[in-house]
Amino acid sequence: MGAGPAGLVLAHLLHLKGIDSVVLESQSREYLEHRVRAGVLEQGTADLLDAIGVGDRLRREGLVHEGIELQFEGERHRIDFPSLTGGRRITVYGQQEVVKDLIAARLETERPLLFEVTDVAVGGFESDSPTIRFGHEGEKIELRCDFIAGCDGSHGVCRESIPEGALTVFEREYPFAWLGILAAAPPSNDELIYAYHERGFALHSMRSPTVTRLYLQVRPDEDLDEWPDERIWDELERRLGLEGWTLNNGEITEKGVTGMRSFVVEPMQCGRMFLAGDSAHIVPPTGAKGLNLAVADVRVLAEGLAAWFENGDGSALERYSADVLRRVWRAEHFSWFMTSMLHRLEDGDAFDVKLQLAQLSYVCSSERAAASLAENYVGLEHV
Ligand code: FAD
Ligand code: DHB
Repeated sequence: MGAGPAGLVLAHLLHLKGIDSVVLESQSREYLEHRVRAGVLEQGTADLLDAIGVGDRLRREGLVHEGIELQFEGERHRIDFPSLTGGRRITVYGQQEVVKDLIAARLETERPLLFEVTDVAVGGFESDSPTIRFGHEGEKIELRCDFIAGCDGSHGVCRESIPEGALTVFEREYPFAWLGILAAAPPSNDELIYAYHERGFALHSMRSPTVTRLYLQVRPDEDLDEWPDERIWDELERRLGLEGWTLNNGEITEKGVTGMRSFVVEPMQCGRMFLAGDSAHIVPPTGAKGLNLAVADVRVLAEGLAAWFENGDGSALERYSADVLRRVWRAEHFSWFMTSMLHRLEDGDAFDVKLQLAQLSYVCSSERAAASLAENYVGLEHV
């Protein structure tokens, strides 16, 4: 269920193992291919996309980065990934580009991918034959399956259909959000800049040599109408600006506010329905982990399903939730750590600011602290 990164990568992994699947998606193809979200792929995510044959454009157009910069108290400090992680890197490539490549690959397999499905209801997953009922092009359809993969994001139906009491929810809200823009302007720096500033956090990222992606910490209930383009550029300039450095401006082509929260449900399974990606966990975006975790989940799920279909061995499926939750909680911690270190706390005091600055200077001056940040950022091979 769901044609986001989790659902599409899972479907492709299953296809490569010769296992049939039907992908159901409530939105249109057009909508999915233009929905602007994450942009940083861990080394392991990019390698997996390559290995399953959907990495051609990613390798051509993706921007390989060997570090990020942390900015505070008017200075930038570089964290170098390859030297701190045994040669690992990240690739900057928009989530909607990953989704485009995966949709094209799925359609090429000629296996079913149905867009704009309606009235989806899942049932029977505590029996041996789960069912999915849905509407498509005016028809009502009932699908009987061996398993349901709930890859339908944070507002999907799969998690909501699990009986109350079967799941434990772990949650944290943050008192801020990100205002994100895409601008038709060349990036102003070769690498991402995470800036801690007394006016709030700011992030300089990019999508291509001609498109910049920028974020500002704002209030969770921020009204976009209060942010005309000049105010956004002005605020970015104040938070990211340094002597001798200018921020390239350009036409703003996309604007949005994203709330920030941490959320995990355990276990990520109920009978024959498995949850993967945002349907089971949300991280605040500061560590750039959301998309990468979704892909990591389905990689494990595909192995478990393959063992079951190939030789009736259900042991990997039984371990699925426990196995993926180790990585999920590592990413939850890293995302919380980056978020807490870099955002201005509205009700924080001078003591909080001193603690954040102490942590930032530690990360930028101790090779061991820098290595810890770097290995989490590029993605841990084993958790
Ligand atoms: P999704 O991509 O959400 O895919 C789920 C799919 O299921 C969707 O296509 C949805 O339409 C479909 N669906 C939902 N309900 C149904 C239904 N009933 N039937 C059928 N289909 C259904 N992460 C970062 O790391 N950095 C970022 O900057 C960042 N920015 C983000 C900005 C926004 C606005 C959002 C919402 C998320 C952002 N994320 C970011 C998180 C990242 O995009 C997600 O972690 C990632 O999309 C997870 O992939 P997924 O496949 O699990 O879920
Ligand atoms: C981007 C998003 C993130 O959450 C992040 O930490 C770094 C970059 C991006 O959209 O480019």
